[in-house]
Amino acid sequence: MSKVTVVGAGNVGATCANVLAHKDLVKEVVLLDIKGDLAKGKALDSWQQAPIDYYSTTITGTDDYADTAGSDIVVITAGVPRKPGMSRDDLISTNAKIVNMVTSSIMKHSDNPIIIVVSNPLDVMTYAAFQTAGLDASRVFGMAGILDTARYRAFLATELGVSPKDIQAVLMGGHGDTMVPLPRYTTVAGIPVTEMIDEERLTAIVERTKKGGGELVGLMGTSAWYAPGAAAAQMVEAIVRDENRIFPCCVHLSGQYGLKDIFLGVPVKLGKKGIVDVLELQLNEDEKALLNTSAEHVRNVMDVYKKM
Ligand code: NAI
Ligand code: 2OP
Repeated sequence: MSKVTVVGAGNVGATCANVLAHKDLVKEVVLLDIKGDLAKGKALDSWQQAPIDYYSTTITGTDDYADTAGSDIVVITAGVPRKPGMSRDDLISTNAKIVNMVTSSIMKHSDNPIIIVVSNPLDVMTYAAFQTAGLDASRVFGMAGILDTARYRAFLATELGVSPKDIQAVLMGGHGDTMVPLPRYTTVAGIPVTEMIDEERLTAIVERTKKGGGELVGLMGTSAWYAPGAAAAQMVEAIVRDENRIFPCCVHLSGQYGLKDIFLGVPVKLGKKGIVDVLELQLNEDEKALLNTSAEHVRNVMDVYKKM
C-alpha cells in the first residue's frame, strides 16, 4: 500500500495527515479540501517538517479529486464540527451531503479503496459512505472507538497515577453520549480495573468518557483534533502493516450482538483487507441493554438521514 488520501484539511484531517507522515508508512499522503489553497498550504507545511523529523512520506495538498487517483486508503474528515450547545447529531443535514459527495468523488478515481469515516454523526455518516461507495462492508468503517477508549484510558491513567500505556479497555456502541465503556473488560497491566479503583470513582470516569467530546467542545469552542487525528492514523497503520490489531471501530453489523443493518462500534480485527473479523464479547444483561439503547439512538439518527 502506497497512497493514502485524507479528505478535509481542517483540524482533524491535517492532524491525521501529519501524524501519518511521521509514521513513515506509505509513499504518499494526499490532503484534499474544497477551501481554496488550505490543503496545499497545510501539506507544504507538513512536508517542510520532514527534514526536521526525518520522514520520507510525501504530503501534497489539492482541491482536485484527480490527484487522489489510485488511493489505497481514504480517510474522510470533511464536514462541519459541532459548536458549544450542539450534539453530533445536529450536524447531519450538512455533513450527510458532504460525505456523500466526497465518497462518490473518491470512487470515480480509486477502484477498491478502504474508506475510514471520521465526519459526524459518525455512525450514520459511515452508513452513508458505505451506501454511496458500493464497496464491501469490510472496506468501509468509522473511527470513534479508538478515540473514545483513549479518553477513558487517559482519565483512568490520571486517576490511578499510572502510564496510559498500561490501561487496556474496550468500549462499544455509537459515538455519542450513549456509548458503552465496559469496566468488566478494562485492565491495568492485566489487573482488573475494579481491583484498583472504587465503584463510585469508576462510574464518574465512565460518565466523563461518555461526554468526553462535549467537554473539549466546551473548552475550545470547537471539537477535538489531536487525539481524533492520531486515532484515524492508527487505523491506517494497522491496515498498511496488516497488523490484525483489535480496536473498537464503527462497522456494519449483520446479526452480531443481535443487531443488523446498522453501523455501530464493536471490537474488530483490523488488517490489510480492512475488517477481518467482528469480535463477539459475552456481554451480560446490563451491558447488552446499554448496547441496545445506544443502537436505538443510532437508528433514530439513521431514520432522520433516510428521510432527507
Ligand atoms: P474543520 O472545520 O476543522 O475541518 C473540516 C474541513 O472539511 C474544512 O477544512 C472544510 O473546508 C472541509 N470540507 C467541507 N466540505 C468539504 C468537501 N465537500 N470536500 C472537501 N472538504 C470539505 O473540522 P474538524 O474539527 O476537522 O472536524 C471534521 C469532522 O470530523 C467534523 O464532522 C467533526 O464532528 C468530526 N469529528 C469526528 C470525530 C470522531 O471521533 N469520529 C472526532 C473529531 C471530529
Ligand atoms: C469528538 O468526540 C467531536 O466526535 C468528536 O471529539
